[in-house]
Amino acid sequence: MTQVDVLLGLQWGDEGKGKIVDVLSPQYDLIARFQGGPNAGHTLEFDGKKFVLNTIPSGIFNEKTMNLIGNGVVIDPIILKRELDNLKKAGHDPVANGKLVIARKAHLILPTHQLLDAANEQKMGKDKIGSTLKGIGPTYMDKTGRNGLRIGDTTLPDFKDRYNKLVEKHKEILSHYEFEYDLTEKEAAFFEAIEFIKTIPHVDSEHYVNGFLKEGKTVLAEGAQGTLLDVDFGSYPFVTSSNTTTAGACTGLGIAPNKIGHVYGIFKAYCTRVGGGPFPTELDDEVGENLRQVGHEFGATTGRARRCGWIDIPALKYAIMLNGVTELIMMKADVLDGFDTIYACTHYEHNGETIDYMPYDIISVKPTPVLKAIEGWKTDVTKVTKVEEIPANLNAYIAFLEKELEVPVKFLSVGPDRVQTLELN
Ligand code: GDP
Ligand code: IMO
Ligand code: MG
Repeated sequence: MTQVDVLLGLQWGDEGKGKIVDVLSPQYDLIARFQGGPNAGHTLEFDGKKFVLNTIPSGIFNEKTMNLIGNGVVIDPIILKRELDNLKKAGHDPVANGKLVIARKAHLILPTHQLLDAANEQKMGKDKIGSTLKGIGPTYMDKTGRNGLRIGDTTLPDFKDRYNKLVEKHKEILSHYEFEYDLTEKEAAFFEAIEFIKTIPHVDSEHYVNGFLKEGKTVLAEGAQGTLLDVDFGSYPFVTSSNTTTAGACTGLGIAPNKIGHVYGIFKAYCTRVGGGPFPTELDDEVGENLRQVGHEFGATTGRARRCGWIDIPALKYAIMLNGVTELIMMKADVLDGFDTIYACTHYEHNGETIDYMPYDIISVKPTPVLKAIEGWKTDVTKVTKVEEIPANLNAYIAFLEKELEVPVKFLSVGPDRVQTLELN
């Protein structure tokens, strides 16, 4: 029997998961998203084309790979339909090709879930989470509150009644906010999209994935967001509403913990965060602006400017521990090409102590990062195709991180395109 490999982000999202899942997908029979929803924006580039996927797994461009949207994902039918329409226009039709299946138990994002997200964020004012406003939080609240609607419910004769019942509940909550809305257009689009989504095969992801494993087939679980946005272990309340960690792959697909194989932890050679919340190594200066411009650090889903800073080793150690990472993948090394000196945060000064973990009171008492200077490589690495061509100072940076993190770096990414990826020895 085979096991499920997992690929997930170790920082605050946008590490480059989409790119690497696409690169690895030829090695897998199935790619499965296990949590999150269209708050994700996973970018892939190949043959001069660029795609951003929100709900669809990033194995969709590989002809032989099946793709599953797992039970732990929350689905906005309007966005999923739009994604599929756009893919079709670009000559990729996973529905016609039979390459996409959806879990019956995945929950539906209703237009009113988005309204609740927006009303809540508006009320929070300057303390807002900085949500993508896709309705993620309210949908997971209805899931755990046992009110939610699932993909499988769309085929029931009383689906419309169930929908109306939940919407009434939402309208009642919305009446407590000073929040104007008009549902008509969104509702029409929702029901049109529901009809379309009924044409995609619905499966029980627990049986589907375990069936693949029984047949000796290979499966890769694709994470969304990042470990530091995990609802249990992230910088709460500035988190998303799902478990973004390896454990989330078990509950989000229906696989037992002993079925987990390799865990690929992906991180940027520096660090970014979009939305509110603590970010100890943030650079609120021209160096941060430089990282943002060179790294094109603007959100794939919302277009918002991403906050930028140096790599944070205590945060990475924490993420590696939580996920059981077996191999690391370092992204966007090329963004640091122009720097004379780069910095890595090795510890925090916090409440008069030097610590190497993320403290509980990280939100109320900002830790001061202890930075180690590292000599830059001052070389354009975007055209590096062989391991022997990697500049010595970049190799030294990787070796330093491997020593600190006690996990090997298996892949190095030196540009957004599929081909700008090196497998290290
Ligand atoms: P994801 O959410 O983890 O899939 O990451 P995003 O797609 O939101 O953000 C990663 C961004 O970095 C995208 O614009 C990618 O095209 C880009 N990217 C990925 N790897 C590299 C790399 O090695 N170098 C550069 N310069 N850009 C990269
Ligand atoms: P990918 O998969 C980066 C952030 C939001 C906000 C917080 C809560 O592309 O890496 P939510 O919409 O879940 O209510 O937002 O989480 N966030 C992300 N940041 N990448 C993502 O996904 C994110 N998904 C959510 O900015 O701070
Ligand atoms: Mg993203």
